[in-house]
Amino acid sequence: MAELVIALDFPTPDEALDLARSLRGEVPWVKVGMELFTLAGPPVIGRLADMGFRVFLDMKFFDIPNTVRGAVRAAARMGAAMTNIHLIGGRRMAEAALEGREDAAATGVARPLLYGVTVLTSMAGVDLADLGGGDPAERVLGLARKGANYGLDGVVCSAMEVVRIKKACGEAFGCLTPGIRPAEAGGAQATDDQRRIVTPADAVAAGSDYLVVGRPVTRAADPLGAVRELARQMRAGA
Ligand code: C5P
Repeated sequence: MAELVIALDFPTPDEALDLARSLRGEVPWVKVGMELFTLAGPPVIGRLADMGFRVFLDMKFFDIPNTVRGAVRAAARMGAAMTNIHLIGGRRMAEAALEGREDAAATGVARPLLYGVTVLTSMAGVDLADLGGGDPAERVLGLARKGANYGLDGVVCSAMEVVRIKKACGEAFGCLTPGIRPAEAGGAQATDDQRRIVTPADAVAAGSDYLVVGRPVTRAADPLGAVRELARQMRAGA
């Protein structure tokens, strides 16, 4: 069964930690992204891990291989249970990321899952066209194949692409899917800046392994209620 990952996209660590406290025991994973990590640094990872969460450090590393190797090694050492790189960084960068994880493991640290970012779920065909073109679905599939070939654990993709990715890369290759929006009574839903969105039930039915949800929970008047409703909708898709 897929697992829920709550994106703690907040401008201050206090807000992120308050929300995490209210969700303790209800969700297995929280995601620390660029804003929170840039502001709060490694201590926030430790505090979330101490609360019992598995922490996904979502920094989407993309740099020269040596720098990415060091970044992944650092992420593992600070206790991240998952981190990620951009697949457009290519084979040498991905291999350096895997080496960074092994460097950390050699010092007795647990190996984090290492995922590759394909095409951001906020990007549609029109956005890719502006960068020189390409069909988003084809591009995602091509990058996912490469990620599997490099030896990564899975990819970040839209739930719309999970069925094709699993078929091409195997069931064991993970799919972590943001761009999730709960089905609301009446059908209206806020998509925010996401473009390729999917409901929790459909994402689970497609075979997604991790569903990443941010604003539908972080901006809810009742975040715990929102998480329980998401979990209910996920079970409906199982
Ligand atoms: O608020 P929302 O549910 O749209 O948050 C989605 C989260 O997933 C954000 O933290 C965003 O950075 C992240 N993400 C994404 N698309 C990707 C990779 C990560 O939306 N391809």
